[in-house]
Amino acid sequence: GTVVLAYSGGLDTSCILVWLKEQGYDVIAYLANIGQDEDFDEARLKAEKLGAKKVFIEDLRGEFVEEFIWPSVQANAIYEDRYLLGTSVARPCIARRQVQIAQREGAQYVSHGATGKGNDQVRFELTCYALYPEVKIISPWRIPEFFNRFRGRKDLMEYANEHDIPVPVTPKAPWSMDANLMHISYESGILENPKTHAPVDLYLMTKNPEDSPNTPDVLEIEFLKAGGIPTCVKVDSLKVIYGSIVNLICMISLFYLNSGKHGVGRIDIVENRFIGMKSRGIYETPGGTILYQAHLDIETFTMDKEVRRIKQGLGITFSELIYNGFWFSPECAFVRDCIARSQENVEGKVQLSVFKGQVYMLGRESPKSLYNEELVSMDVQGDYDPCDASGFIKINAVRLREHHRLQGLSGSK
Ligand code: ARG
Ligand code: SIN
Repeated sequence: GTVVLAYSGGLDTSCILVWLKEQGYDVIAYLANIGQDEDFDEARLKAEKLGAKKVFIEDLRGEFVEEFIWPSVQANAIYEDRYLLGTSVARPCIARRQVQIAQREGAQYVSHGATGKGNDQVRFELTCYALYPEVKIISPWRIPEFFNRFRGRKDLMEYANEHDIPVPVTPKAPWSMDANLMHISYESGILENPKTHAPVDLYLMTKNPEDSPNTPDVLEIEFLKAGGIPTCVKVDSLKVIYGSIVNLICMISLFYLNSGKHGVGRIDIVENRFIGMKSRGIYETPGGTILYQAHLDIETFTMDKEVRRIKQGLGITFSELIYNGFWFSPECAFVRDCIARSQENVEGKVQLSVFKGQVYMLGRESPKSLYNEELVSMDVQGDYDPCDASGFIKINAVRLREHHRLQGLSGSK
């Protein structure tokens, strides 16, 4: 049979490619470009050299931004209060193209290099089953003949030497990384001890806030109609308007450059994997952190209070669905539709500064603002009668006074 392998160009998936061939499969190598720093031409040559029948290198940056990152920004998606889901949102995007290729090429099988203990296996495979129900999945790290043979990096290196697989010349970082437009994650290896501090040179996207500039950069982000999509950014006085998705990608990079230089978006957390265990992860999401803060601000400014409350709950549900791998599920589609609907009036400009690892709001303005300066002002009466507040407070106090009365009764016993 033919198998489409999600190939990264690294040691693990190179060995998997050759091993699958050994098992008698025709292997199609598939590598997604989601904005990671990678030499794609070199990866293609390597996969061909290892015996891939075909190699597909797919530029998914546009759809990754448009269909996965923006809905997450609109939802203020965040897992366990801190993780902005940079890896979690990329998986369904990558796996969707993988099954498209499999179907087009008449391949019955797909394969990936995720371990048997993590979230990624779940995300890849749920996406594959949801979009190509008949697919057969080969998950080498869950196959005893595979994982008993490759018990560590040493075994992979040995296998690579025996099979003419080029091994990385630069020594591997003592942790695992996953990078895309939105973030880089670091976990496992020396980071598995949750007490161990991250070495200062671990971070690749952001500067240490201790070494960042002593003057802030001021940004202006405009969220335009079409549902809270920022389409314009002003960095100090330089204003750039973005129309196309390609340019949106550049814009994310611009946020990244600005925030990276100020050390914005670093977190070091212990999180709960779907599989049931806790894991320690370090993430840097510079541009995403700015967008998260800016969107929260413009949303609160323009959205009805009660709609916002319900929408916030949906955002938590959405985040858990993303983390657990259910992007392509009926419930997730439903939640996405509701959240999209909530964004109808979320537009306007946010001015903020980035400085020493932080994002500081400076001001906001919007044609759809629900903020009524006259209504809230301490100096003007506006369309509001302060006497009405007496009744409002007294009615709310009915329950509190009853509670006090009952407490008094039980206390006297
Ligand atoms: N723990 C994060 C998540 O579940 C990051 C996973 C990183 N994946 C990787 N292959 N290094 O989303
Ligand atoms: C992996 O297990 O392959 C990476 C970590 C994760 O998926 O949670």
